[in-house]
Amino acid sequence: MAKGESRKNARAPKRSGSSPKQAALEQFRVSADGEHLTTDQGLRINDDQNSLKAGDRGPSLLEDFILREKITHFDHERIPERVVHARGAGAHGHFQVYQSLSRYTKAKFLQDPALRTPVFVRFSTVAGSRGSTDLARDVRGFAVKFYTQEGNFDLVGNNIPVFFIQDAVKFPDLIHAVKPEPHNEMPQAASAHDTFWDFISLMPESMHMIMWVMSDRAIPRSLRMMEGFGVHTFRLVDERGTSRFVKFHWKPALGVHSVLWDEALKISGKDPDFQRRDLWEAIESGAFPEWELGLQIIEEKDEHTFEFDLLDPTKLVPEELVPVKRVGRLVLDRNPDNFFAETEQVAFHPGHLVSGIDFTNDPLLQGRLFSYTDTQLIRLGGPNFHEIPINRPVAPVHNNQRDGHMRQTLDVGQSSYHPNSLGGGCPMQAGRRLGGFVSYPEAIDAEKQRARGEKFFDHFSQATLFWNSQSATEQGHIVQALRFELGKVDGLAIRERMLGMLAQVDKDLAGRVSEGLGMAVPARVDGPLNLSVPADRDPKEFQPRRFKQRIERSRALSMADTVKDTAKTRKVAILAADGVDGTAVAGMQRLLKAAGAQSKVIAPRLGALTGARGQAVPVDWSLLTVGSVLFDAVYVPGGDKSAEALAAEASAVLFVREAFKHCKAIAASGAGVGLLAAAGIMEDSPAPAESPSGRGKSSPAANDDAIVVGTDAQLESIAQAFIQAIARHRNWSREAKAQRVPA
Ligand code: HEM
Repeated sequence: MAKGESRKNARAPKRSGSSPKQAALEQFRVSADGEHLTTDQGLRINDDQNSLKAGDRGPSLLEDFILREKITHFDHERIPERVVHARGAGAHGHFQVYQSLSRYTKAKFLQDPALRTPVFVRFSTVAGSRGSTDLARDVRGFAVKFYTQEGNFDLVGNNIPVFFIQDAVKFPDLIHAVKPEPHNEMPQAASAHDTFWDFISLMPESMHMIMWVMSDRAIPRSLRMMEGFGVHTFRLVDERGTSRFVKFHWKPALGVHSVLWDEALKISGKDPDFQRRDLWEAIESGAFPEWELGLQIIEEKDEHTFEFDLLDPTKLVPEELVPVKRVGRLVLDRNPDNFFAETEQVAFHPGHLVSGIDFTNDPLLQGRLFSYTDTQLIRLGGPNFHEIPINRPVAPVHNNQRDGHMRQTLDVGQSSYHPNSLGGGCPMQAGRRLGGFVSYPEAIDAEKQRARGEKFFDHFSQATLFWNSQSATEQGHIVQALRFELGKVDGLAIRERMLGMLAQVDKDLAGRVSEGLGMAVPARVDGPLNLSVPADRDPKEFQPRRFKQRIERSRALSMADTVKDTAKTRKVAILAADGVDGTAVAGMQRLLKAAGAQSKVIAPRLGALTGARGQAVPVDWSLLTVGSVLFDAVYVPGGDKSAEALAAEASAVLFVREAFKHCKAIAASGAGVGLLAAAGIMEDSPAPAESPSGRGKSSPAANDDAIVVGTDAQLESIAQAFIQAIARHRNWSREAKAQRVPA
């Protein structure tokens, strides 16, 4: 790179360039290209290889300020990881509303369809440490910082619309229970252990969330393929001061898709960075992830018309009762320049609001409002973390907050208090019309008490609703997840209590889980079910009860009907060896690319293969370094020698078997069909077409439209059917049969 040429020009083209946030960040970006090495004081360094010593074999000298500075800085490089949501990945982008929402809110960024509001989004898992695997079974954080012209608005949500607990006072208990156990710090990034299930088995309010966390929603295929939810009920407030309740949703353009638990376990070994890599690569390649913002708006007068309490974060508002209006678009189009400076130091807070949006009395939200700044004070080392570039609003900041560790602003003038006359009364308070924030004047006339609303105690109805809304495949996965999780629990009493709790959700569910555990569902559940009873109170008051529900099923809760019309950004492995049909490889690559999918050539070794007609076929990865779990689909091109070599290669056979087991799309042309036969995933008869390799007759497993085979000449039609199968994500109807395939 030429001296002085900026490194940032060397990577993919930068987007979000015109955003005010990017313009503000630009002054902090530093490139060392073409520059000399210096100390932190700007002194050029002559020798960065040797410390200063008394003679070439003598002791190091205390005088060596260069050595001391370098090592001191290194010694202090780590900051505490987030107490929860430590593992994450972030990206920049923008948000734009489709039409003015001035009918509902005075928030300016929701009023002007021409306005692009810059955002920074951080996705995360909750329980694991910063270095843990991306594929833990866990809730995913979905935190969005909108840098609006009226200040930062943070929508700090999750990919699941409800939460484990109803009251913030239980949050430390929940997190202590799910984190590694305190005596031996095991297991990492996993809920499958005694303390978690001990707590859950005593907390019936968590059952709705448990259903979601045991579903495949907790193992997303990609951060780009998950929904987001604000969870709590918030308020939108219009110019006249009218308030309406609102639930925030993010709906992904690519639909909601997940991996299987068996895949998740294997991905964790093959590529623990699978999801952050997927996000990074999608953005670098220009396939920008997109979501629509959805709102469920509820008039204040309707607050008490539901069979659940809008303030209860363990309940959702079914879309059948209040439809989701899609009001705007979020696009992520720029990766961070520096993980630590941006993704690690970003500080979200549900209390970062703009005028036009306000809180409700959800007791979980209220506790969160305290927690975030409090934890960030220690995580980021003092009260000035709002000055870190990623956290700075694009709106001007003026107040009388002063000093503290690492203060960067040079506040000029004599006064740092209000009211003042020496500073001309500045900074001034802003009237409502000038954007001054006024809390929604909710009328409250109540006794102080430690209590919850009556409907909070319906702990099971929506858990049952979720279970009933799942497809048979999804239900099967929930049963398996519970068998796995409870199977890792040593305490038999805990398992038994959990079976009793599941029986409250659905008897069939409990029965199926109990079968896997080799235990009976307790005939009578020992009361009280809810042990979180305050001292001196009657446990009867705190026992779960059911309110009559208006709906029994909600399609929006199942992933079965999600977007399944695109193969965009899906990853396809092309298995090849020397002698491969290079024309088929190139043809399939071209057709996949045209459909927006990506393909990689995987072979027994790296380098270039020699194709059947002598052409060079470059290899992307060797079979040693990847596995089919890192891909959405597999294609095996023709070429007799290649197919024979692959059939003799156990890792290639396993590759195809695993893809079959995980219900993925598989295609083969010409002699490539032989590998499918070698993997045992073809049926012997009847055969629709002569096996091109001449090895006899074979056909795809019956009724499996996600296995596409044909002759070398049929490449175009194979590709077409293959791409459609990829778009459908998985062929779940194969699952029962696939379980019999050893992989
Ligand atoms: C009383 C309940 C809760 C408490 C006390 C709490 C507390 C915390 C704390 C201390 C952090 C680390 C923040 C940091 O170090 O910067 C955090 C992060 C986070 N929390 Fe919560 N949390 C609660 C409930 C929730 C709920 C219900 C949601 C979802 C709606 C949620 C979503 C998140 C997300 C997404 C992050 C990660 C933010 C990031 O990417 O930096 N939390 N929470």
